[in-house]
Amino acid sequence: MQKNKYTFKKATIKDLNTFWPAFAKNIKTQFPEYSIKTRKAFLEKEYPLQYIEEGLKDKRIALYLAYSKNEVAGFLYTTYICGGIGMANWLAVAKEHQGHGIATALLKMWQKDAKRLGMHKIHLWTDKRNLDFYKKQGFTYVGKIPKSYYGADDYLFYKILQPPKENNFLKRIKL
Ligand SMILES: CC(C)(COP(=O)(O)OP(=O)(O)OC[C@H]1O[C@@H](n2cnc3c(N)ncnc32)[C@H](O)[C@@H]1OP(=O)(O)O)[C@@H](O)C(=O)NCCC(=O)NCCS
Repeated sequence: MQKNKYTFKKATIKDLNTFWPAFAKNIKTQFPEYSIKTRKAFLEKEYPLQYIEEGLKDKRIALYLAYSKNEVAGFLYTTYICGGIGMANWLAVAKEHQGHGIATALLKMWQKDAKRLGMHKIHLWTDKRNLDFYKKQGFTYVGKIPKSYYGADDYLFYKILQPPKENNFLKRIKL
């Protein structure tokens, strides 16, 4: 692992100018389970920059970033759902930066933060190419959900972070 080559941080609005080009490039190139048209719609309609900016301001979205110099080398995009449960929407590491422990470090940041904020559990859906990756990260595999979001087969994982407590899951969690 060459983690010292990278700087890790939770994004603020100021990071969006560097995050956005990396997000767009990775969505376009690293998620072949979705058609080109669908990936274009993700960027233009589902997750446009303005939507992400508003989400960061309202603290509905948390982005964990790995920087290599001034570029975003990897990102983890998460949201708080409700009832003490957080979700990972997007995780990607640029091809040239893969295999250096970036995704592992981003997932650790998220778990630590989610626990601190009072979440007891995190969920994620992935493609079958990543089954072993998430198992290695200590997530529990639930199973395959066929023809799921945007028609792709989804593979559901979860991790319990701490015992559920009413005080936590009834409070308004802001990311
Ligand atoms: C999956 C992905 C995020 C991993 O990022 P990364 O920074 O290269 O991962 P890490 O370096 O932290 O890898 C940790 C370990 O998992 C292994 N690993 C990485 N990707 C793997 C995969 N798809 N399947 C199995 N093992 C994998 C690594 O070899 C490493 O093993 P080690 O600890 O024995 O050395 C990256 O390959 C990626 O962006 N892929 C394309 C987009 C994608 O599929 N994102 C996830 C969608 S939910």
